[in-house]
Amino acid sequence: MDKRKVALITGAGGYIGGECAVTLAKEGKAVAVCDINEAGIHATVERILAAGGEAKGYLIDVTDPEDVDRVVAEVVRDFGRLDIAIHVAGGSARIAQREGKEVRYVDLCEQDPYVIDRVLQVNLYGAIWVSRAAARVMVKQGEGGRIVCFSSIIAQNGLAHCADYAAAKGGVISLVKALAKELGPHGITVNAVLPGLVRRPTDPDDEHYAKTNVLGRKCLGSEVADLVAFIVSEKAGFITGAEHIIDGGRRLSQRGSD
Ligand SMILES: NC(=O)c1ccc[n+]([C@@H]2O[C@H](COP(=O)([O-])OP(=O)(O)OC[C@H]3O[C@@H](n4cnc5c(N)ncnc54)[C@H](O)[C@@H]3O)[C@@H](O)[C@H]2O)c1
Repeated sequence: MDKRKVALITGAGGYIGGECAVTLAKEGKAVAVCDINEAGIHATVERILAAGGEAKGYLIDVTDPEDVDRVVAEVVRDFGRLDIAIHVAGGSARIAQREGKEVRYVDLCEQDPYVIDRVLQVNLYGAIWVSRAAARVMVKQGEGGRIVCFSSIIAQNGLAHCADYAAAKGGVISLVKALAKELGPHGITVNAVLPGLVRRPTDPDDEHYAKTNVLGRKCLGSEVADLVAFIVSEKAGFITGAEHIIDGGRRLSQRGSD
């Protein structure tokens, strides 16, 4: 019988990360639900356990390399191994909100350096620390592995008032390509996922989300999770260093502000 795969997911207390955690758990993977938001962790772990899956929550700050190393070590201690690492934690200027800063989507010239720093820290440095810690374990295990980091189509197209976020997500793509080369000889694939616009349950329910793609409907978090589930599956063993877009064709029509 195949060994049970263990997946660590950051941002798993949020919308897309939560959907990824639930989808992988339904496939029989043991899931380490990692986030800085305790309530979010609890909600995702409860969903998985209620459905008969295996999960455990871990409080993590992905901007702190020591904290990331600590959590990865705890996951290996608790589950015995690590096969899959998915860095979903991230977001644009809004992620600086929890530290009590005002959320402003403005020209880079006007943006608060603190917000710019947080956006780079969570999206890009987080991807670096999580990939690095996970890769060390996977290389040592010697059985290959899967690393996925969340980027955005904004990395390819740019978006006014999100220059910091675009730069961070562009950095994620470059990171993934370089790591695919470093880790390929170990049988570890490294890929980037680039969503378009995905409405979170906490976002206003307006038509913008359906109008800014060519399919004319909203993207579900579970659809992004299905893409991730394929990328981390056995079947995707020859897919690495790639940018996987899931945007309903939004990039085909994206202008400066939509
Ligand atoms: N929703 C979209 O339209 C969209 C589009 C393109 C890309 N993305 C990317 O998809 C990913 C998930 O986005 P989402 O829409 O589910 O957002 P979300 O806000 O629901 O989830 C993000 C999660 O990251 C966590 N987080 C923030 N800072 C952290 C830190 N320092 N350490 C650990 N966890 C931290 C938050 O607590 C939250 O649970 C993000 O990387 C985002 O940039 C989202």
